Amino acid sequence: MSATAPAPFRRDGGSGRFGGYCLWHHYRLQGRTSSGTTFPKRAWVPVDITVVPRGSYTLLPCSQARDETVERPTVHVPEILLEADYNAMSLRAGDIVGEAIRHNPSIVLALPTGTTPIGLYADLVRRHRDEGLSLSGVTTFNLDEYVGIAIDDREGYHGFMRSHLFDHVDIPEGAWHLPNPQATDAGAEVRRYEGLIDASGGIDLAILGVGANGHLAFNEPGDTLTGPTHVAALADDTWLRNFPSLAPRLKDEPELRARYSTAYTVGIGTILRARKILVLASGMAKASILASAVRGAITPRNPASFLQLHPDVTFILDEAAGSWVHYTA
Ligand code: GLP
Repeated sequence: MSATAPAPFRRDGGSGRFGGYCLWHHYRLQGRTSSGTTFPKRAWVPVDITVVPRGSYTLLPCSQARDETVERPTVHVPEILLEADYNAMSLRAGDIVGEAIRHNPSIVLALPTGTTPIGLYADLVRRHRDEGLSLSGVTTFNLDEYVGIAIDDREGYHGFMRSHLFDHVDIPEGAWHLPNPQATDAGAEVRRYEGLIDASGGIDLAILGVGANGHLAFNEPGDTLTGPTHVAALADDTWLRNFPSLAPRLKDEPELRARYSTAYTVGIGTILRARKILVLASGMAKASILASAVRGAITPRNPASFLQLHPDVTFILDEAAGSWVHYTA
């Protein structure tokens, strides 16, 4: 296996190339593949989901890809469950997550925020209240939180999670985790959070929303993606969507854009190390990016496309969000 001569990135080791680009993993933080080959610090190797993908990802033109002998990653086709509407999507997610908790009462979950999971959380609260679903052994890690805000900031995710889930179920205080927005040392905080996830035994089930631009958590589209938990800058379109009450004031108060402009986020590698991934999405605004994520090029310009590298992903989409996935099938 060569570390210096890149090879084409191919679907299932076959002949199809992804949009003329190859996906490579730059081993900045570790220099060893799953097969034990060690690399010098700046080596490029193909993404291999069987190793912990810490580090950053990038694209190389396939013209640079010459070595046919290197291992290639396998690309997976996810399970796609189409539901009629948001409510049905949420109930289906509740079935799957509720069953996962019953099956493994000490399950480790990664949890999203945003509008998408609100129905799922309501359904879990209902199952707890009416059906005796216990979350007393569950551990959770939220995907993200804004940097520098107060714990009780009305836009923050601590308050969101308490009001939609934690205050209504029996998950013990101390078993749910979010990055600490008040941490004085951001570098130490990202290491602490990643370390906590590792110490819990790793994420069994990562529940994800997806941004209309393809972001997962706050892994925004760009030239590279970051593997572990890190501080990310919000893309303009994400900011405008997440703060509809601030957006109209931006013209007169451009300094507002600096608020909520960075966030702690688990990295794409943290997500891909989860044993199973469940993605929820609803609405027409997500249709195009989801179709690209499921069937298009694996590219950091659409972070959700990296889910093709995971062997156990289920999408639950309402009819609108799934309409282009269906169309391109
Ligand atoms: C937010 C969150 C993501 C979430 C996404 C989708 O910015 N950081 O974790 O999945 O955007 O949001 P929504 O569900 O509101 O569409």
